[in-house]
Amino acid sequence: MPKPRHFLDIDRIPVDTLRNLIHRAIEMKRARKSGEVQPQPLVGRTLTMIFDQPSTRTRVSFDVAMQQLGGYTMMLTGTEMQIGRGETIGDTARVLSRYVEAIMIRILDHGMLLEMAESSSVPVINGMTKQSHPCQVMADLMTFEERKGSITGKTIAWTGDSNNVLASWMHAAAQFDFTMKVATPKEFAPRDALRAWIKKSGAKILLGNDPQWAAAGADCIITDTWVSMGDEKEAARRLNILQSFQVNAALMALAEKDAIFLHCLPAHRGEEVSDEVIDGPQSAVWDEAENRMHIQKAILEWCLT
Ligand code: CP
Ligand code: NVA
Repeated sequence: MPKPRHFLDIDRIPVDTLRNLIHRAIEMKRARKSGEVQPQPLVGRTLTMIFDQPSTRTRVSFDVAMQQLGGYTMMLTGTEMQIGRGETIGDTARVLSRYVEAIMIRILDHGMLLEMAESSSVPVINGMTKQSHPCQVMADLMTFEERKGSITGKTIAWTGDSNNVLASWMHAAAQFDFTMKVATPKEFAPRDALRAWIKKSGAKILLGNDPQWAAAGADCIITDTWVSMGDEKEAARRLNILQSFQVNAALMALAEKDAIFLHCLPAHRGEEVSDEVIDGPQSAVWDEAENRMHIQKAILEWCLT
């Protein structure tokens, strides 16, 4: 049997496919907004969504995406499944593959995502792990290109924590050939495995500790929460150390005049981003959130047809 088309990470998929997904999402968004009748290629298909962590955007955008394509969704949480009582993720994948046509899973342990994909005979989509958040960054890339054209050759700044969203952005830098300037405190800098990946990939990723250096001349400034899911125990320490990494008007002013601001949301206003920036004219965060739905329609179509 041929291997299913999983969507696990941006660095595992050929760049031409990634580009096609963005173009397809932009086209589906345009067609929907202009009221054209849309094909429903996924009639009769079911997507199971497993959430072992909370979600607003991922849950709703996948649900609506699947409905617009003619399919169904079913939402499960880790605690109400037998996984919570010790059934292996592999056995869970084998069983679910007999019922549904695709699985989307949000789980902190990236190894468990990979195990699920290994044992599943239907496509598995990464809905976020501690290690990466590829659907989010596909929506981010789409948003950037809608506003500013091709991202290739551009300069993207990241300030704040080194987390899952940043890792997927780094994968994108390698694939789409743009420069990333990343400013994190030493305490929350990319770990050895990610540093080794950067080196091996040859991506234009520059690491530092100064947000002003990262922002200077950037076409886009990105940040994310200082306390990601799973980091709650050290929240106070994080908030303290990361304070000087906030994206505010003074930091935005160092970027290109027409630079945009991105944040995957949920935002913690007054922490990693000031109100004036997230609500300001350079913020693209609401388009970014909307684009989760459009890009995931393209991803579902690619996985399933
Ligand atoms: N950006 C994002 O994944 O949001 P949710 O946690 O609400 O799904
Ligand atoms: N970095 C954040 C992303 C939330 C969508 C987290 O892992 O909690």
